[in-house]
Amino acid sequence: MKKLDMIYEGKAKKVFRTDDPKQYIVSYKDDATAFNGLKKGSIADKGIVNNKMSAILFKMLEEKGIPTHMIALLNDRESLVKAVQILPLEVIVRNVAAGSMSKRLGIEEGTILPQIVLEFSYKNDELGDPLINDDHALAMGLATREQISRVKAYTFKINEFLKEFFLDKGLKLIDFKIEFGLYDGEVILADEISPDTCRLWDVNTNEKMDKDRFRRDLGKVEETYQEVLARVTKCAE
Ligand code: TMP
Ligand code: ASP
Repeated sequence: MKKLDMIYEGKAKKVFRTDDPKQYIVSYKDDATAFNGLKKGSIADKGIVNNKMSAILFKMLEEKGIPTHMIALLNDRESLVKAVQILPLEVIVRNVAAGSMSKRLGIEEGTILPQIVLEFSYKNDELGDPLINDDHALAMGLATREQISRVKAYTFKINEFLKEFFLDKGLKLIDFKIEFGLYDGEVILADEISPDTCRLWDVNTNEKMDKDRFRRDLGKVEETYQEVLARVTKCAE
């Protein structure tokens, strides 16, 4: 398998074509942004942490019956993935109020939600990924009704598997964002699952163990990414 030209560069990853039209190589960068690119920086070796952690989590989810884009971890920063067409939806799950939900609705961060909240955002940087509902997604042709119900059903299961997985590593899954893609017409989980895309709090201390350390200038950013990878790797092999 040969790595060919880059077809996409996002804020945290690059995507390359390969000599197999059904496979891409994703390359994880150390670049970090927040607030829709307003805050810019770099987190040393973040790309390595996010690549390895995503590979472990996608493998775990595959074993539980969730189809994902993951084919193989290639090296520290690169993975071979199925060439999906990404649905332009960010799917956010909240178990505990935090971040934009706390701010928008005036709910104190850390408030346990009596039921899971699933949100959709329209994946569009120019508009700042605005919050939308199912009807917006349908009316805008972002996904079909069947695809949306698939996405929701997978997302609830993914939340259960991830919550259990992280709790075993001493981490509470507060919220997370995932993305899905189409492959052979089927909805599969794509993108990444990492401290960039999840809020994880230590079970004992409630210390923030995710990208909020960068967003909010909390310090120990690199160390925290390494700590999360170390915990996730433990017993994952
Ligand atoms: P929020 O509270 O800022 O809306 O974030 C909810 C979750 O989504 C949190 O775990 C971080 C993740 N997230 C991303 O992965 N990408 C983004 O661009 C944003 C804004 C949040
Ligand atoms: N990655 C997003 C951005 O740069 C936001 C975030 O993760 O907070 O805008």
